[in-house]
Amino acid sequence: MMHNRWLKRIALSLPIVLLAFPVSGAGAKDISLPKRPAAVQSDLVNALENRKSVRDYTTARLNLQDLSAILWAANGVNRDYGRRTAPSAFGNEYIDIYVVSDEGAWRYDASAHRLKAAAPAGLKERLTGQRFVGRASHVLVLVADPGKYPGFFASGEERLRWAHATAGAIAQNVYLMSAARGVGTCLVAGIDEGAIRKGLGLAADAMPLYVMPLGYEER
Ligand SMILES: Cc1cc2nc3c(=O)[nH]c(=O)nc-3n(C[C@H](O)[C@H](O)[C@H](O)COP(=O)(O)O)c2cc1C
Repeated sequence: MMHNRWLKRIALSLPIVLLAFPVSGAGAKDISLPKRPAAVQSDLVNALENRKSVRDYTTARLNLQDLSAILWAANGVNRDYGRRTAPSAFGNEYIDIYVVSDEGAWRYDASAHRLKAAAPAGLKERLTGQRFVGRASHVLVLVADPGKYPGFFASGEERLRWAHATAGAIAQNVYLMSAARGVGTCLVAGIDEGAIRKGLGLAADAMPLYVMPLGYEER
């Protein structure tokens, strides 16, 4: 029947159409994070004493409570008007934090404290040539988004400096909350920018800056 033939044609061409127009985050779904902890057992001095770079991780999966605490510390909302835990030039939010795991990639939505699906699985091992990163349970990717830079007057170089300054503050927040929660991390600058751009489907002018693997330390 004519009708059936057309249905068959549409069904056969559907995978081609989907491949040609990949849905952002296909294969990954948005994730609601548990509420961030009101307190941790470690005090600030203790967290500073324990801060260090960790490169050997167990195969255990990072639990969502730890991920929630670390993302909030990284650059979550801590005050009215959506103000954040990390400082930024003019209070603009020009750094995006992506979370990459074996299941996919997500962008951290700080105001909703939620992970928005960004890319399907398969990126974790390609973020950098440094193999220990791919062995971590989750990896944070810090990306500067030029569309969100403040002011028309600042030069590209100035904007880049601001991005690195804010990324450094975020990184130290991640180190400290990780130390307080018994999670291992490491700031990694040696990244594969091209693979990250492609894997996350970033705009051409977006700039991946650092990655930070997260996992429990192998002792
Ligand atoms: C800007 C910057 C870039 C870094 N890049 C890397 C890197 O690519 N790979 C890595 O294993 N560690 C990297 N690190 C971590 C340093 O190696 C580490 O902080 C240093 O050895 C001191 O060790 P600690 O963090 O345990 O005190 C980087 C640190 C900074 C601040």
